[in-house]
Amino acid sequence: MHMNPKYYIFTILLIIESGSSTVFAQRNPVLTYHFKKHVICRNGAVVSAHPLASIAGLQMLKQGGNAVDAAIATQLALAVVYPGAGNIGGGGFMVARLANGSNITIDFREKAPAAAYRNMYLDSNQNVIPGKSENGHLAAGVPGSVAGIFSYYKYAKLPFSKLIGPAINLADKGFAITAAEASDLNDHQEDFKKYNSRLPVFVKNSGWKAGDILIQKDLAKTLRRIRDQGVRGFYEGETARLIVEEMHRGKGLISYGDLKNYSAKERVPMLFTFKKDYSIITMPLPSSGGILLPQMMRMVEDRNLNQFGFETTESVHLMAEVERLAYADRAEYLGDVDFFKVPVKTLISYPYLKERMKNFNKDSAGKSDIIKAGVIHESEETTHFDTYDKEGNCVSITTTLNDGYGCRTVVAGAGFLLNNEMDDFSAKPGVPNMYGAIGGDANAIAPGKRMLSSMTPAIVLYRSKPFLVLGTPGGTTITTSVFQTLMDIMEFGMSVSEAVNKPKFHHQWLPDILYVEKDFPKPVIEQLEKMGYQVQEREAIGRTEVIRISLSGVVEAVADWRGDDDAECY
Ligand code: GLY
Repeated sequence: MHMNPKYYIFTILLIIESGSSTVFAQRNPVLTYHFKKHVICRNGAVVSAHPLASIAGLQMLKQGGNAVDAAIATQLALAVVYPGAGNIGGGGFMVARLANGSNITIDFREKAPAAAYRNMYLDSNQNVIPGKSENGHLAAGVPGSVAGIFSYYKYAKLPFSKLIGPAINLADKGFAITAAEASDLNDHQEDFKKYNSRLPVFVKNSGWKAGDILIQKDLAKTLRRIRDQGVRGFYEGETARLIVEEMHRGKGLISYGDLKNYSAKERVPMLFTFKKDYSIITMPLPSSGGILLPQMMRMVEDRNLNQFGFETTESVHLMAEVERLAYADRAEYLGDVDFFKVPVKTLISYPYLKERMKNFNKDSAGKSDIIKAGVIHESEETTHFDTYDKEGNCVSITTTLNDGYGCRTVVAGAGFLLNNEMDDFSAKPGVPNMYGAIGGDANAIAPGKRMLSSMTPAIVLYRSKPFLVLGTPGGTTITTSVFQTLMDIMEFGMSVSEAVNKPKFHHQWLPDILYVEKDFPKPVIEQLEKMGYQVQEREAIGRTEVIRISLSGVVEAVADWRGDDDAECY
């Protein structure tokens, strides 16, 4: 994770040769771009992990598109300019509140291939084989992103060829990479060599540096097939052939049948209220966020959190304890509801949550039973973006390859990275995955099943009007970051910039550690340690993106300072 200043201008002053004439690259918008961290307008906004993706979305708004058009253009552009997490080889969730008052949630989470089975990552002694669910072909679930895009395209206004245009151009002509992207690509060179039978464009023996041009011709061809053939341009025909051939080369499981049978699913949104005036719309299972967020918010709802203040010992203690309790439930109960009966109503009910809080002690840390402590994996992994338009449509989407650059395998000839989402299943009950998260039967591997996720795209209404559109990447820290950002704004009255950029913390029951960002206040850490917490500093938590709409219609968009994230509006 790269720490960037709160606001900076990234100007690449390079000169490239084009035929015989010299082109001054800084005149070209894909070679010179700004990172805007905080913008205020009236008509609409887009905030995402990369300026070129936010700009692609903004162009659609300016050309008469709505927030869904902007979201699709942004998502497709991210698949090109942010290969570590933007994708067409992964999956995600879409949450929307349309101007007509309808709430929509679309699940395009990856699925286990039909040939997957419960113990596929265990050795003959029933022990998890390290890395097997994380690296290479066998780690990949059946991708859902393209099916997802076409399932919400029905809410868009512009022709699909226009929405995918910026992505095709960026892939075909190339764009200048940032210092963070160069560093991330350099960090993964050995993996790209190890997990690919044909070297992908991401391999550069001399090393990547800021301003280098990344051209992805194979990806451009795949995007053109999607433009021309729609969803079949990915799940059938040439792209399917390239995926299946890649699987054969690397002993992966995804088959023609898996691809043809994949479909995104419109689900009933998780909708709950907080303190009477707020309604929160978020993703239901297989997003654990759709359970954990209402659990955590309801456990603090009657406890006067606002009186404690932001990042005081009292508020962090209370919030960390509800995080601990929610994560303990996650491990036991949560999985794909199409395969496992989850007691959703009970888990988010006030009586149940009151009972859960009955042992809360204001003076001391709770104790998680130590089963097997995992290590929090520090990676940018997932990506989140928000769009809002002048009609009042809001879209909040989180997509993922899971780890940074997914399983590190690129589909040769098709130019896109595959996910390693199979690691989000519980490979064996009680054994932590790469995020240190533990699961059981509810999240065991089964053919066609969706693995449990933490992605929590969310929209908040205030007195039934759009108020906040938000989300973040960050593996298991996603739900706790969304929770904290909401409490910062709704309970502590902080500005959106402060809520996004101030240090965050995270507790997930196991390991029994309270993780804090590096600039977390030291006196609070000392107090928490005295109360029994094991506190551990870690790198940045998430990259939260927020759009806030005021009652008078002012639109404010904030991009997280922790990455290359960018907010655009008009
Ligand atoms: N792969 C991260 C998540 O879905 O939670």
